[in-house]
Amino acid sequence: MTRPKGPFDEPVDPVRRSMFGAAVAASMTAAAPLSMAQSGRIALERAPLAASNEERGILAALDLVYRNHRFLSVPEEDGRLLRILAESIGAKHVVELGTSTGYSGLWLLLALVKTGGRLTTYEIDRRRHQLALENFSRTGVSKRVRAVLGDAHAEITRLKDPIDLLFLDADKDGYLDYLQKLGPLVRAGGLIVAHNMASPPPDPRYVEAVTTDPAYDTVFLNMHDAGVGVTLKKR
Ligand SMILES: C[S@@+](CC[C@H](N)C(=O)[O-])C[C@H]1O[C@@H](n2cnc3c(N)ncnc32)[C@H](O)[C@@H]1O
Repeated sequence: MTRPKGPFDEPVDPVRRSMFGAAVAASMTAAAPLSMAQSGRIALERAPLAASNEERGILAALDLVYRNHRFLSVPEEDGRLLRILAESIGAKHVVELGTSTGYSGLWLLLALVKTGGRLTTYEIDRRRHQLALENFSRTGVSKRVRAVLGDAHAEITRLKDPIDLLFLDADKDGYLDYLQKLGPLVRAGGLIVAHNMASPPPDPRYVEAVTTDPAYDTVFLNMHDAGVGVTLKKR
């Protein structure tokens, strides 16, 4: 079965690609301005290719959500980043705050079918939670997802299992509370990924917490867009 053509299948613009290639090549010489590479919006990526039937099912669901019912979903680039992060640390348990209609959760599922892991995800809005359930059920691997309806601030207090990757994408002024409640469950070597570190502006108390504690090391990526904070829990 082939995946229906979707937004991930946009051809790479050869002009932009060659411009970016030239910028990268130029940046390797001492005199070249690095900003050339930084300012070129990269059009080198291609759609992720399914390497298994499970991946094919998830990609088809992603396509459908992308077209029909995303609600404040992460940009595609951030979804792909989430998948790569989760898969590369071999995440067995991912916790997401802010399911919405399941778009970022589907990207995470691409990792979890590979690692044999599971996703616990929280959403306060009944309609979005319901849509997410439907979207997860389209993948054929929804047994890997526990989607919880309710206020995550209260619901997460029931969590006891270690977390490999914690993804914060619910109420933006709640990030510090989520960190304080779930940070202790994140294993050493695990990641805390926080969305919207550029736009809307993040809660400075959260930024302070992940940049001044020696237990954490944090980088901020994709700051030209919504921005993503990636925090390694070192111990
Ligand atoms: C930015 S959207 C999440 C997008 C999703 N991660 C994606 O990329 O597809 C934020 C979601 O968090 C939900 N939310 C806000 N406050 C919440 C809370 N206290 N508990 C659970 N969910 C909450 C909102 O209803 C909204 O659907």
